This record gives sequence, C-alpha cells and structure tokens, in this order.
Amino acid sequence: MTSIIETKDLIRDFKKTRAVDGLTLSIALGELFGLVGPDGAGKTTTLRLLAGLLDVSEGDASVLGYDLKEKAESIKPHVGYMAQQFSLYGELSVMENLQFFAELFDVTPKDMAERTERLLTFAGLTEFKKRRAVNLSGGMQKKLALACTLIHEPEILLLDEPTTGVDPISRREFWNILTELHLQGTTIIVSTPYMDEADRCSRVGLMYAGKLVECDSPKNIREKLEGDVIEIQPEDWQKALKTVAGLSGVREAQTYGESIHLLVDSGKRRLPEIERVLKKEKLAYRSIRIAPARMEEAFISLIRKLEA
Ligand SMILES: Nc1ncnc2c1ncn2[C@@H]1O[C@H](COP(=O)(O)OP(=O)(O)OP(=O)(O)O)[C@@H](O)[C@H]1O
Ligand SMILES: [Mg+2]
Repeated sequence: MTSIIETKDLIRDFKKTRAVDGLTLSIALGELFGLVGPDGAGKTTTLRLLAGLLDVSEGDASVLGYDLKEKAESIKPHVGYMAQQFSLYGELSVMENLQFFAELFDVTPKDMAERTERLLTFAGLTEFKKRRAVNLSGGMQKKLALACTLIHEPEILLLDEPTTGVDPISRREFWNILTELHLQGTTIIVSTPYMDEADRCSRVGLMYAGKLVECDSPKNIREKLEGDVIEIQPEDWQKALKTVAGLSGVREAQTYGESIHLLVDSGKRRLPEIERVLKKEKLAYRSIRIAPARMEEAFISLIRKLEA
C-alpha cells in the first residue's frame, strides 16, 4: 500500500500545552480514516498540522512526500481542509461561495463553471444555488462547506467534525457523499464525535491526551472490548436499571430508549445471574441477550481504562 501521509513522533506544543504528543501514523492512499477522542485530545491540532497550517514543534511528518517542516506551502493545493468552525460567507449565495473558494485556489473559470455545476448536483444544492448561505439549513451549510472544500479537487480531505450538530438525516446524506468520494479514490481523514460515523471508516484512530492510543479497523476495535454486552428490555427500565447497575461483574450500565446495555466482565457467567435477580425482584422483561458490542461501548471502555 502506498502511504500518502506519514508522521513519526510528531509533536506540537502551544506554550505549556503539548497538544500532539508523539504521533506516529501512516495513512494509505484512498483510506477513509476516522479520528475520534474526547475534547482537547488533539484532533484539530493534528488535522491543522497535516493541512500545513501549523508549524511542527518536533518530530517528522510528510504529506504526499512533502516534508511538513520545509514544504508546508506545497501541500496546500493537494489538500482540502474543512475547519471545525468552517465559515461560509453568509451574505453570499451558494454559487458565490463556491466561486469565492474557486478564486482562492486559482481554479480557472472554465474548470470552475464545470465543477460548480457538478458539485451542486453532488451536494444536492442545485435548486438552492441563489440562496444566501445564511438562509440555508445547518445540514445544507455543511454540504456547501464540503463543496467549497472540494472545488480545487484535492487528493486529500481533512475534515474536522464536519457533521457536528447536524440532524441524523443530513448526517447520513453527508456521509453518503463522503463514501462516494472514498469510492472515487480520495484519501479522507475525518474527525467525529459520532461513533456510528467512526464505524463507517476503513480505520479509526483514538486520540487521548495528544497520543494515538488505538488505531485499527472498527471491527477489530469492537472485538478488543474486554467483556460482553448484555441487552435487557425490561417492562420498567428505571427500576430494572437501579437493580442491575450495581451487580457484581457489571462495569457500565447505559440506556438506549427503553433497553438497557450492561457492559459485563463475562456475558456467559452474568446472564443467568442477572436473570435470577430480575426474577427474584419480580421485574418483568421482554428479552435479555448477549448483544454485539458497539463502537460506542468499545471506546467508552477503552477510555475508562486510560483514565483508571
Ligand atoms: N491555539 C492554541 N493555543 C493554545 N492552546 C491550544 C491551541 N489550540 C489547541 N490548544 C490546546 O491543545 C489541546 C488540544 O486541542 P485540540 O483543539 O487539538 O483538541 P480536539 O481533540 O480537537 O478537541 P475538541 O474535540 O474539543 O475539538 C487542548 O488542550 C487545547 O486547549
Ligand atoms: Mg477539535
């Protein structure tokens, strides 16, 4: 596999804060890589470093073979960076925003005309092209921001929480566009607080305090979860939750709607014990089973271990 992004012991300091602390990462051409981690973990700093927008404090990094310490400017035409607080020009129309970014990146008028039409269709914004950006819905603004990021046809996309605060339908639409770009061969690194999005990536990196503490396929990360998940659908989830949350072997208890997910040390061992307790307490349930672990549980469990 050709690697397109390489970092080795990469460090970025802000005065006393070490925002990125010895990051070693290799991204292959065409990967859809998800970056997750708690607030302040260093995701934005990493993306800004890779976009050539921040100086490296120590260590090595290269993008498309260009050394970030010497050739950061050469990287820019190849990279599309969508900032966490990406700002459109609210008073400009959808079309004018695209034109603005096209000019910023020296896209020729001919290419611009062809690309804007294609991107508008791609983002489902054709019928809104005259609308001012400020009057678009949140989801549409994100799609426009992505279209602006794509106008110079970058080979690498660096997207910082592009769907935060967007409704689930728009999030799905946005991800369908990303999947399409991924299939076309664009290399994408995307940070996200949403675990269902992390699950759609080919590989996921978990950052914690500036370090990459886990990096693997979503499937392998889920399998690394130590313990099992028991899902219960009780008649009265509040009472049931109180009863089961403190039982021995139960590490976490979370509710999803009216079902309870328990992270336990061993599903096989705890399932009969929990059933016994529920029966004894006369707490009826519709079902109880060992359920497949979800990304969210895997990450919560990994982070708990780091904090312990
Ligand atoms: N320009 C800056 N000046 C000083 N400190 C900064 C600066 N940018 C980031 N930091 C610090 O570096 C650390 C990492 O921040 P970063 O924004 O990279 O985290 P993040 O993972 O993107 O967080 P979030 O999920 O909240 O967006 C934090 O402690 C932050 O306060
Ligand atoms: Mg951030």
